[in-house]
Amino acid sequence: MDKSEQDALKKAAGIEAAKLVDNDMIAGLGTGSTVKFFVDELGRRVQEEGLHFTGVTTSNRTKAQAESFGIKIVDIDDVSHIDITVDGADEVDQNFNGIKGGGAALLWEKIVATNSDRIVWIVDESKVVDTIGRFPLPVEVIPFGVQHVITRFKNRGYDPTLRVDAEGTPIHTDEKNFIVDLHMNRIDHPQDLAEDLITTVGVVEHGLFLNMVNTVIVGDPRGPRVLTNSNK
Ligand code: 5RP
Repeated sequence: MDKSEQDALKKAAGIEAAKLVDNDMIAGLGTGSTVKFFVDELGRRVQEEGLHFTGVTTSNRTKAQAESFGIKIVDIDDVSHIDITVDGADEVDQNFNGIKGGGAALLWEKIVATNSDRIVWIVDESKVVDTIGRFPLPVEVIPFGVQHVITRFKNRGYDPTLRVDAEGTPIHTDEKNFIVDLHMNRIDHPQDLAEDLITTVGVVEHGLFLNMVNTVIVGDPRGPRVLTNSNK
């Protein structure tokens, strides 16, 4: 699949998900290139259809995009709950276990997701996999002592790399932390790995989102396909 085909599938999924946001809702807005299409469509609905809702964003990037359309964005601590959150994902398997954080926003994404009544992911079909882990698993780590955390991950066979930008400088998350990507290739026991990561001192959060999502909208060349998680 070339990039323009993939973008068309992402856009179709984003437009489909935007139909789920109704007047007066509090909606969590995810992060990434697929979510960008979703927010574009919400912006169009706000401007052309008079849609009015309040947004809580998972990154400063999404906040800037949403506000450019006049969408009202508030702090997560200014709302008591979130009706629905629409976000992207890097991989998702048939048990609705997924990897997120390719865009380095996993911490805020997980906080927003955890406080949402309904979670919807929008993906193109290449993200639906049998076993998660081919996509490097992002882990958010505080800068102090990061090399020691990396050494621990190496010793456990997780093949870690510190995420850097084109100049080789470590990238910072919106919380000014670092991202360490784990090149596991396949993750057969995601619950065990999640437990191991979150109990490692210095780790703030990881990109394993296990059985959190309610609905996945898959951009498919025949039209968006909806997968429903019956275990939620
Ligand atoms: C950002 C994320 C993104 O939602 C995920 O990386 C998917 O991004 P894209 O839609 O660009 O493929 O988790 O932290």
